Amino acid sequence: MLLVGLGAVATTTIAGVFAIRKGIAKPIGSLTQMGTIRLGKRSEARSPAIKDFVPLADLNDIVFGGWDIFEADCYAAARTAGVLESSQLDQVRGELEAIRPMPAVFDRRYVKRLQGPNVKKGKNKRDLAEQVVADIRAFKERHGCDRLVMVWTGSTEVYMKETAVHASVASFEKALEQSDDAIPSSMVYAYAAIREGIPFANAAPNLTADVPAMLELAARTRAPLAGNDMKTGQTLIKTIIAPGLKARLLGVRGWYSTNILGNRDGEVLDDPESFKTKEESKKSALEYIFQPHLYPELYADLCHVVRINYYPPRGDNKEGWDNIDLIGWLGYPMQLKINFLCRDSILAAPIVVDSALFLDLARRAGMSGIQEWLSFYFKAPMHAPEVYPEHDLFIQLMKLKNTLRHMQGEELITHLGREYYD
Ligand SMILES: NC(=O)c1ccc[n+]([C@@H]2O[C@H](COP(=O)([O-])OP(=O)(O)OC[C@H]3O[C@@H](n4cnc5c(N)ncnc54)[C@H](O)[C@@H]3O)[C@@H](O)[C@H]2O)c1
Repeated sequence: MLLVGLGAVATTTIAGVFAIRKGIAKPIGSLTQMGTIRLGKRSEARSPAIKDFVPLADLNDIVFGGWDIFEADCYAAARTAGVLESSQLDQVRGELEAIRPMPAVFDRRYVKRLQGPNVKKGKNKRDLAEQVVADIRAFKERHGCDRLVMVWTGSTEVYMKETAVHASVASFEKALEQSDDAIPSSMVYAYAAIREGIPFANAAPNLTADVPAMLELAARTRAPLAGNDMKTGQTLIKTIIAPGLKARLLGVRGWYSTNILGNRDGEVLDDPESFKTKEESKKSALEYIFQPHLYPELYADLCHVVRINYYPPRGDNKEGWDNIDLIGWLGYPMQLKINFLCRDSILAAPIVVDSALFLDLARRAGMSGIQEWLSFYFKAPMHAPEVYPEHDLFIQLMKLKNTLRHMQGEELITHLGREYYD
Protein backbone atom coordinates (compact mmCIF):
# COMPACT_ATOMS: atom_id res chain seq x y z
CA MET A 1 0.00 0.00 0.00
CA LEU A 2 1.63 3.20 -1.19
CA LEU A 3 0.57 6.32 0.68
CA VAL A 4 1.39 9.74 -0.68
CA GLY A 5 1.89 11.97 2.36
CA LEU A 6 2.95 10.18 5.57
CA GLY A 7 1.17 12.51 7.98
CA ALA A 8 -1.55 11.98 10.59
CA VAL A 9 -3.94 9.89 8.51
CA ALA A 10 -1.28 7.70 6.91
CA THR A 11 0.72 6.98 10.06
CA THR A 12 -2.43 6.27 12.07
CA THR A 13 -3.44 3.82 9.35
CA ILE A 14 -0.06 2.11 9.22
CA ALA A 15 0.54 1.98 12.98
CA GLY A 16 -3.02 0.73 13.40
CA VAL A 17 -2.52 -2.15 10.98
CA PHE A 18 0.70 -3.15 12.79
CA ALA A 19 -1.04 -3.01 16.18
CA ILE A 20 -3.98 -5.05 14.86
CA ARG A 21 -1.61 -7.64 13.42
CA LYS A 22 0.00 -8.01 16.82
CA GLY A 23 -3.39 -8.47 18.41
CA ILE A 24 -2.98 -5.44 20.66
CA ALA A 25 -5.79 -3.39 19.14
CA LYS A 26 -9.04 -3.87 17.24
CA PRO A 27 -9.92 -2.62 13.73
CA ILE A 28 -12.93 -0.65 14.91
CA GLY A 29 -14.59 1.36 12.15
CA SER A 30 -13.49 -0.99 9.36
CA LEU A 31 -16.17 -2.73 7.33
CA THR A 32 -13.64 -5.07 5.72
CA GLN A 33 -12.34 -6.24 9.09
CA MET A 34 -15.45 -6.23 11.29
CA GLY A 35 -18.47 -6.00 8.98
CA THR A 36 -20.84 -8.76 7.99
CA ILE A 37 -23.09 -9.14 4.97
CA ARG A 38 -26.52 -10.69 4.91
CA LEU A 39 -27.06 -13.19 2.11
CA GLY A 40 -30.37 -14.55 0.89
CA LYS A 41 -33.56 -14.30 2.86
CA ARG A 42 -33.78 -13.07 6.46
CA SER A 43 -35.10 -16.51 7.39
CA GLU A 44 -31.86 -18.16 6.17
CA ALA A 45 -29.67 -16.57 8.86
CA ARG A 46 -26.65 -16.35 6.55
CA SER A 47 -24.46 -13.38 7.51
CA PRO A 48 -20.79 -14.14 6.91
CA ALA A 49 -18.00 -11.71 7.69
CA ILE A 50 -17.26 -9.60 4.61
CA LYS A 51 -13.63 -10.70 4.67
CA ASP A 52 -14.74 -14.33 4.50
CA PHE A 53 -17.25 -13.61 1.74
CA VAL A 54 -14.97 -11.80 -0.73
CA PRO A 55 -11.27 -12.54 -1.26
CA LEU A 56 -9.68 -9.48 0.31
CA ALA A 57 -5.97 -9.08 0.91
CA ASP A 58 -5.08 -10.06 4.46
CA LEU A 59 -3.79 -7.32 6.77
CA ASN A 60 -0.82 -9.59 7.53
CA ASP A 61 0.24 -9.51 3.88
CA ILE A 62 0.33 -5.74 3.42
CA VAL A 63 3.61 -3.87 2.99
CA PHE A 64 3.53 -0.09 3.39
CA GLY A 65 5.54 2.57 1.64
CA GLY A 66 5.13 6.19 0.69
CA TRP A 67 6.41 9.65 -0.03
CA ASP A 68 6.66 12.80 2.04
CA ILE A 69 8.37 16.17 1.85
CA PHE A 70 9.72 15.58 5.37
CA GLU A 71 12.42 12.98 5.99
CA ALA A 72 11.00 11.64 9.25
CA ASP A 73 10.35 7.88 9.34
CA CYS A 74 6.82 6.73 10.17
CA TYR A 75 7.52 6.43 13.90
CA ALA A 76 8.80 10.01 14.13
CA ALA A 77 6.00 11.25 11.84
CA ALA A 78 3.39 9.51 14.01
CA ARG A 79 4.91 11.15 17.11
CA THR A 80 4.66 14.55 15.41
CA ALA A 81 1.08 13.88 14.34
CA GLY A 82 0.26 13.16 17.98
CA VAL A 83 -2.77 10.99 17.27
CA LEU A 84 -1.77 7.71 18.90
CA GLU A 85 -0.35 7.47 22.39
CA SER A 86 3.41 6.99 22.74
CA SER A 87 2.95 3.78 24.69
CA GLN A 88 0.99 2.29 21.78
CA LEU A 89 3.41 3.57 19.15
CA ASP A 90 6.33 2.10 21.07
CA GLN A 91 4.83 -1.35 20.66
CA VAL A 92 5.18 -1.09 16.88
CA ARG A 93 8.19 1.20 16.82
CA GLY A 94 10.53 -1.09 14.86
CA GLU A 95 8.05 -1.65 12.03
CA LEU A 96 7.27 2.07 11.85
CA GLU A 97 10.91 3.15 11.86
CA ALA A 98 11.58 0.85 8.92
CA ILE A 99 9.26 2.94 6.72
CA ARG A 100 11.12 5.96 5.44
CA PRO A 101 9.50 8.33 2.98
CA MET A 102 10.69 8.43 -0.60
CA PRO A 103 11.44 11.97 -1.87
CA ALA A 104 8.24 13.72 -2.86
CA VAL A 105 6.99 15.53 -5.92
CA PHE A 106 6.14 18.85 -4.35
CA ASP A 107 5.60 22.45 -5.34
CA ARG A 108 4.59 25.12 -2.84
CA ARG A 109 2.35 26.66 -5.43
CA TYR A 110 -0.23 23.98 -4.52
CA VAL A 111 0.26 23.76 -0.72
CA LYS A 112 1.30 27.19 0.43
CA ARG A 113 1.75 26.55 4.14
CA LEU A 114 4.31 23.74 3.85
CA GLN A 115 7.94 23.44 2.89
CA GLY A 116 10.23 20.44 3.36
CA PRO A 117 13.63 19.10 2.30
CA ASN A 118 12.72 15.65 0.94
CA VAL A 119 11.73 16.73 -2.55
CA LYS A 120 12.59 15.39 -6.01
CA LYS A 121 14.25 17.49 -8.67
CA GLY A 122 13.45 17.01 -12.32
CA LYS A 123 13.69 18.82 -15.61
CA ASN A 124 9.89 18.93 -15.95
CA LYS A 125 6.76 17.30 -14.53
CA ARG A 126 7.04 14.44 -17.02
CA ASP A 127 10.47 13.66 -15.61
CA LEU A 128 9.02 13.76 -12.06
CA ALA A 129 6.24 11.37 -13.08
CA GLU A 130 8.85 8.96 -14.50
CA GLN A 131 10.72 9.14 -11.19
CA VAL A 132 7.52 8.19 -9.33
CA VAL A 133 6.99 5.28 -11.74
CA ALA A 134 10.57 4.17 -11.00
CA ASP A 135 9.87 4.42 -7.23
CA ILE A 136 6.73 2.31 -7.63
CA ARG A 137 8.51 -0.39 -9.61
CA ALA A 138 11.48 -0.47 -7.23
CA PHE A 139 9.15 -0.74 -4.22
CA LYS A 140 7.26 -3.61 -5.82
CA GLU A 141 10.47 -5.43 -6.66
CA ARG A 142 12.13 -4.80 -3.29
CA HIS A 143 9.19 -6.12 -1.28
CA GLY A 144 8.10 -8.84 -3.68
CA CYS A 145 4.56 -7.44 -3.91
CA ASP A 146 2.03 -9.09 -6.20
CA ARG A 147 -0.13 -6.01 -6.43
CA LEU A 148 -0.14 -2.37 -5.36
CA VAL A 149 -2.66 0.29 -4.37
CA MET A 150 -1.92 4.02 -4.07
CA VAL A 151 -3.82 6.44 -1.81
CA TRP A 152 -3.25 10.20 -1.73
CA THR A 153 -3.12 11.02 2.00
CA GLY A 154 -1.20 14.22 1.33
CA SER A 155 -2.20 17.73 2.28
CA THR A 156 -5.16 19.44 0.67
CA GLU A 157 -3.94 21.32 -2.37
CA VAL A 158 -5.29 24.67 -3.54
CA TYR A 159 -8.64 24.87 -5.31
CA MET A 160 -8.32 24.09 -9.02
CA LYS A 161 -10.78 23.80 -11.87
CA GLU A 162 -10.64 21.39 -14.77
CA THR A 163 -9.06 22.93 -17.89
CA ALA A 164 -8.23 21.87 -21.46
CA VAL A 165 -4.99 20.36 -20.10
CA HIS A 166 -7.05 17.68 -18.32
CA ALA A 167 -9.24 16.88 -21.33
CA SER A 168 -7.29 13.89 -22.69
CA VAL A 169 -4.21 11.78 -22.04
CA ALA A 170 -2.53 13.44 -25.05
CA SER A 171 -3.10 17.00 -23.75
CA PHE A 172 -2.12 15.95 -20.22
CA GLU A 173 1.15 14.34 -21.33
CA LYS A 174 2.02 17.38 -23.40
CA ALA A 175 1.33 19.58 -20.38
CA LEU A 176 3.55 17.34 -18.23
CA GLU A 177 6.43 18.05 -20.63
CA GLN A 178 5.71 21.76 -20.36
CA SER A 179 5.36 21.63 -16.55
CA ASP A 180 1.98 23.30 -16.93
CA ASP A 181 0.60 24.96 -13.75
CA ALA A 182 -2.68 23.10 -14.24
CA ILE A 183 -0.93 19.91 -13.04
CA PRO A 184 -0.61 19.88 -9.24
CA SER A 185 1.75 17.42 -7.51
CA SER A 186 -1.10 15.03 -6.67
CA MET A 187 -1.84 14.56 -10.38
CA VAL A 188 1.76 13.59 -11.05
CA TYR A 189 1.44 10.69 -8.57
CA ALA A 190 -2.03 9.72 -9.83
CA TYR A 191 -0.79 9.69 -13.42
CA ALA A 192 2.16 7.46 -12.48
CA ALA A 193 -0.06 5.01 -10.56
CA ILE A 194 -2.79 4.83 -13.16
CA ARG A 195 -0.28 4.42 -15.98
CA GLU A 196 1.04 1.41 -14.08
CA GLY A 197 -2.52 0.06 -13.81
CA ILE A 198 -2.50 0.56 -10.04
CA PRO A 199 -5.77 1.39 -8.24
CA PHE A 200 -5.77 4.97 -6.97
CA ALA A 201 -7.84 6.62 -4.24
CA ASN A 202 -7.87 10.25 -3.22
CA ALA A 203 -8.40 10.73 0.52
CA ALA A 204 -8.28 14.52 0.12
CA PRO A 205 -10.58 16.93 -1.75
CA ASN A 206 -8.09 18.26 -4.33
CA LEU A 207 -8.72 17.84 -8.07
CA THR A 208 -6.59 14.79 -8.87
CA ALA A 209 -7.94 11.65 -10.58
CA ASP A 210 -11.33 13.15 -11.31
CA VAL A 211 -10.53 14.53 -14.77
CA PRO A 212 -11.13 13.07 -18.26
CA ALA A 213 -7.40 12.47 -18.90
CA MET A 214 -7.10 10.20 -15.85
CA LEU A 215 -10.34 8.39 -16.68
CA GLU A 216 -9.11 7.78 -20.23
CA LEU A 217 -5.82 6.47 -18.90
CA ALA A 218 -7.59 4.26 -16.33
CA ALA A 219 -9.78 2.80 -19.08
CA ARG A 220 -6.61 1.86 -20.96
CA THR A 221 -4.73 0.36 -18.03
CA ARG A 222 -7.83 -1.04 -16.23
CA ALA A 223 -7.03 0.88 -13.03
CA PRO A 224 -9.93 1.34 -10.57
CA LEU A 225 -10.37 4.83 -9.06
CA ALA A 226 -12.10 6.21 -5.98
CA GLY A 227 -12.38 9.55 -4.16
CA ASN A 228 -12.63 12.27 -3.15
CA ASP A 229 -12.03 13.32 0.45
CA MET A 230 -12.57 10.75 3.16
CA LYS A 231 -15.97 11.03 4.80
CA THR A 232 -15.08 11.41 8.47
CA GLY A 233 -16.09 13.78 11.27
CA GLN A 234 -18.69 16.39 10.60
CA THR A 235 -19.62 15.31 7.08
CA LEU A 236 -20.09 11.73 8.24
CA ILE A 237 -22.57 12.95 10.85
CA LYS A 238 -24.23 15.21 8.28
CA THR A 239 -24.83 12.32 5.90
CA ILE A 240 -26.22 10.25 8.78
CA ILE A 241 -28.63 12.95 10.08
CA ALA A 242 -29.75 14.61 6.83
CA PRO A 243 -31.23 11.45 5.20
CA GLY A 244 -33.28 10.92 8.38
CA LEU A 245 -34.72 14.44 8.36
CA LYS A 246 -35.46 14.13 4.66
CA ALA A 247 -37.07 10.69 5.11
CA ARG A 248 -39.59 12.29 7.51
CA LEU A 249 -40.09 15.33 5.26
CA LEU A 250 -38.83 17.74 7.91
CA GLY A 251 -37.73 21.02 6.36
CA VAL A 252 -34.32 22.55 7.00
CA ARG A 253 -33.79 26.30 6.77
CA GLY A 254 -30.28 26.50 8.08
CA TRP A 255 -27.30 24.27 8.80
CA TYR A 256 -24.35 25.99 10.39
CA SER A 257 -21.21 23.88 10.86
CA THR A 258 -18.05 25.03 12.52
CA ASN A 259 -14.91 23.17 13.55
CA ILE A 260 -11.76 23.75 15.49
CA LEU A 261 -8.73 21.61 14.79
CA GLY A 262 -5.05 22.02 15.44
CA ASN A 263 -3.17 19.45 13.39
CA ARG A 264 -1.06 20.08 10.29
CA ASP A 265 -4.14 19.54 8.13
CA GLY A 266 -5.75 22.43 10.04
CA GLU A 267 -2.69 24.57 9.40
CA VAL A 268 -2.81 23.83 5.66
CA LEU A 269 -6.55 24.55 5.60
CA ASP A 270 -5.87 27.89 7.24
CA ASP A 271 -4.73 29.00 3.78
CA PRO A 272 -7.85 30.32 1.99
CA GLU A 273 -7.03 28.55 -1.29
CA SER A 274 -6.74 25.12 0.36
CA PHE A 275 -9.83 25.88 2.46
CA LYS A 276 -11.82 26.63 -0.69
CA THR A 277 -11.07 23.09 -1.94
CA LYS A 278 -12.28 21.64 1.36
CA GLU A 279 -15.32 23.91 1.56
CA GLU A 280 -16.56 22.88 -1.89
CA SER A 281 -16.16 19.24 -0.92
CA LYS A 282 -17.93 19.63 2.42
CA LYS A 283 -20.81 21.71 1.09
CA SER A 284 -21.97 19.44 -1.69
CA ALA A 285 -23.49 16.66 0.45
CA LEU A 286 -26.59 18.46 1.77
CA GLU A 287 -27.62 19.81 -1.59
CA TYR A 288 -27.71 16.32 -3.07
CA ILE A 289 -29.35 14.66 -0.08
CA PHE A 290 -32.15 17.23 0.28
CA GLN A 291 -32.90 17.58 -3.46
CA PRO A 292 -34.35 21.11 -3.16
CA HIS A 293 -35.56 20.99 -6.79
CA LEU A 294 -37.93 18.18 -5.78
CA TYR A 295 -38.81 19.60 -2.34
CA PRO A 296 -38.70 23.38 -2.75
CA GLU A 297 -40.94 24.13 0.28
CA LEU A 298 -38.64 22.15 2.55
CA TYR A 299 -35.12 22.87 1.35
CA ALA A 300 -34.98 25.58 -1.34
CA ASP A 301 -33.94 28.33 1.08
CA LEU A 302 -31.41 26.30 3.04
CA CYS A 303 -28.56 28.43 4.35
CA HIS A 304 -25.55 26.10 4.67
CA VAL A 305 -22.38 27.53 6.21
CA VAL A 306 -19.16 25.59 6.86
CA ARG A 307 -16.24 26.98 8.86
CA ILE A 308 -12.90 25.44 9.81
CA ASN A 309 -10.77 27.25 12.36
CA TYR A 310 -7.15 26.37 12.99
CA TYR A 311 -6.72 26.12 16.76
CA PRO A 312 -3.39 24.46 17.69
CA PRO A 313 -4.18 23.42 21.31
CA ARG A 314 -6.57 20.71 20.08
CA GLY A 315 -4.14 18.91 17.77
CA ASP A 316 -5.87 16.10 15.90
CA ASN A 317 -8.81 16.07 18.32
CA LYS A 318 -11.24 18.10 16.32
CA GLU A 319 -14.37 19.58 17.79
CA GLY A 320 -17.31 20.23 15.53
CA TRP A 321 -20.55 22.05 16.25
CA ASP A 322 -23.61 21.85 14.07
CA ASN A 323 -26.70 23.95 14.50
CA ILE A 324 -29.63 22.79 12.41
CA ASP A 325 -32.72 24.97 12.08
CA LEU A 326 -35.50 22.69 11.05
CA ILE A 327 -39.22 23.12 10.47
CA GLY A 328 -42.04 20.74 11.16
CA TRP A 329 -45.82 20.46 10.77
CA LEU A 330 -47.41 23.82 9.84
CA GLY A 331 -43.99 25.41 9.66
CA TYR A 332 -43.12 25.37 13.38
CA PRO A 333 -39.37 25.86 13.96
CA MET A 334 -37.14 23.49 15.91
CA GLN A 335 -33.43 23.27 16.49
CA LEU A 336 -30.97 20.42 16.71
CA LYS A 337 -27.42 20.93 18.07
CA ILE A 338 -24.64 18.46 17.60
CA ASN A 339 -21.32 18.71 19.36
CA PHE A 340 -18.90 16.06 18.08
CA LEU A 341 -15.61 15.71 19.90
CA CYS A 342 -13.98 13.49 17.36
CA ARG A 343 -10.54 12.26 16.47
CA ASP A 344 -10.09 12.91 12.82
CA SER A 345 -7.45 10.38 11.93
CA ILE A 346 -9.02 7.68 14.12
CA LEU A 347 -12.09 8.02 11.90
CA ALA A 348 -10.04 8.18 8.70
CA ALA A 349 -7.66 5.23 9.20
CA PRO A 350 -10.19 2.37 8.96
CA ILE A 351 -11.62 3.78 5.78
CA VAL A 352 -8.19 4.20 4.19
CA VAL A 353 -7.70 0.48 4.84
CA ASP A 354 -11.16 -0.41 3.53
CA SER A 355 -10.98 1.66 0.38
CA ALA A 356 -7.53 0.28 -0.44
CA LEU A 357 -8.61 -3.34 0.10
CA PHE A 358 -11.80 -2.87 -1.90
CA LEU A 359 -9.95 -1.14 -4.75
CA ASP A 360 -7.53 -4.05 -4.90
CA LEU A 361 -10.52 -6.41 -5.00
CA ALA A 362 -12.08 -4.33 -7.80
CA ARG A 363 -8.89 -4.59 -9.83
CA ARG A 364 -8.92 -8.39 -9.53
CA ALA A 365 -12.63 -8.47 -10.36
CA GLY A 366 -11.89 -6.63 -13.62
CA MET A 367 -13.68 -3.45 -12.54
CA SER A 368 -11.88 -0.32 -13.73
CA GLY A 369 -12.45 3.44 -13.69
CA ILE A 370 -14.75 5.09 -11.15
CA GLN A 371 -15.87 2.72 -8.38
CA GLU A 372 -19.10 4.41 -7.40
CA TRP A 373 -19.88 1.65 -4.88
CA LEU A 374 -17.06 3.08 -2.75
CA SER A 375 -18.93 6.43 -2.41
CA PHE A 376 -19.64 5.25 1.14
CA TYR A 377 -16.16 6.40 2.10
CA PHE A 378 -16.02 9.82 0.48
CA LYS A 379 -17.33 13.33 1.06
CA ALA A 380 -17.43 14.21 -2.63
CA PRO A 381 -17.84 10.84 -4.38
CA MET A 382 -16.62 10.42 -7.93
CA HIS A 383 -19.52 9.71 -10.27
CA ALA A 384 -20.39 9.41 -13.95
CA PRO A 385 -21.08 12.78 -15.61
CA GLU A 386 -24.70 11.93 -16.38
CA VAL A 387 -25.72 11.12 -12.77
CA TYR A 388 -25.65 13.08 -9.55
CA PRO A 389 -23.45 11.69 -6.75
CA GLU A 390 -25.13 9.62 -4.06
CA HIS A 391 -24.39 11.07 -0.61
CA ASP A 392 -26.90 9.26 1.61
CA LEU A 393 -24.75 6.98 3.78
CA PHE A 394 -27.40 4.27 3.93
CA ILE A 395 -27.96 4.13 0.17
CA GLN A 396 -24.18 4.10 -0.22
CA LEU A 397 -23.85 1.13 2.12
CA MET A 398 -26.60 -0.76 0.31
CA LYS A 399 -24.84 -0.08 -3.00
CA LEU A 400 -21.54 -1.30 -1.59
CA LYS A 401 -22.96 -4.51 -0.18
CA ASN A 402 -25.02 -5.23 -3.29
CA THR A 403 -21.84 -4.82 -5.34
CA LEU A 404 -20.15 -7.47 -3.20
CA ARG A 405 -23.17 -9.78 -3.60
CA HIS A 406 -23.13 -9.15 -7.34
CA MET A 407 -19.39 -9.97 -7.54
CA GLN A 408 -19.96 -13.28 -5.80
CA GLY A 409 -23.10 -14.21 -7.75
CA GLU A 410 -25.44 -13.85 -4.76
CA GLU A 411 -28.97 -12.49 -5.05
CA LEU A 412 -29.19 -8.71 -4.57
CA ILE A 413 -31.16 -7.52 -1.59
CA THR A 414 -34.04 -5.21 -2.49
CA HIS A 415 -35.74 -5.17 0.96
CA LEU A 416 -39.05 -5.94 -0.75
CA GLY A 417 -39.73 -8.92 1.54
CA ARG A 418 -43.17 -9.89 0.15
CA GLU A 419 -42.23 -13.57 0.29
CA TYR A 420 -42.50 -13.65 4.09
CA TYR A 421 -46.20 -12.71 3.90
CA ASP A 422 -47.56 -14.18 0.65
N1 LIG B 1 -8.01 13.30 9.11
C1 LIG B 1 -9.17 13.12 8.49
O1 LIG B 1 -10.11 12.66 9.08
C2 LIG B 1 -9.31 13.48 7.07
C3 LIG B 1 -10.56 13.30 6.51
C4 LIG B 1 -10.74 13.58 5.19
C5 LIG B 1 -9.69 14.03 4.45
N2 LIG B 1 -8.50 14.23 5.01
C6 LIG B 1 -7.45 14.76 4.16
O2 LIG B 1 -6.38 13.84 4.16
C7 LIG B 1 -5.19 14.55 3.95
C8 LIG B 1 -4.19 14.17 5.03
O3 LIG B 1 -4.64 14.60 6.29
P1 LIG B 1 -3.68 14.54 7.53
O4 LIG B 1 -4.49 14.93 8.71
O5 LIG B 1 -2.94 13.28 7.53
O6 LIG B 1 -2.68 15.75 7.20
P2 LIG B 1 -1.15 15.86 7.58
O7 LIG B 1 -0.78 17.29 7.33
O8 LIG B 1 -0.87 15.28 8.91
O9 LIG B 1 -0.43 14.93 6.51
C9 LIG B 1 -0.29 15.25 5.17
C10 LIG B 1 1.13 14.91 4.77
O10 LIG B 1 1.25 15.09 3.36
C11 LIG B 1 2.53 15.57 3.10
N3 LIG B 1 2.53 16.11 1.76
C12 LIG B 1 1.96 17.26 1.30
N4 LIG B 1 2.16 17.39 -0.01
C13 LIG B 1 2.85 16.29 -0.41
C14 LIG B 1 3.34 15.84 -1.66
N5 LIG B 1 3.16 16.56 -2.77
N6 LIG B 1 3.98 14.67 -1.72
C15 LIG B 1 4.18 13.92 -0.59
N7 LIG B 1 3.74 14.31 0.62
C16 LIG B 1 3.07 15.47 0.70
C17 LIG B 1 2.79 16.56 4.22
O11 LIG B 1 4.15 16.80 4.38
C18 LIG B 1 2.18 15.81 5.41
O12 LIG B 1 3.12 15.03 6.09
C19 LIG B 1 -5.55 16.04 3.98
O13 LIG B 1 -5.68 16.49 2.66
C20 LIG B 1 -6.87 16.04 4.67
O14 LIG B 1 -7.67 17.15 4.30
C21 LIG B 1 -8.27 13.96 6.31
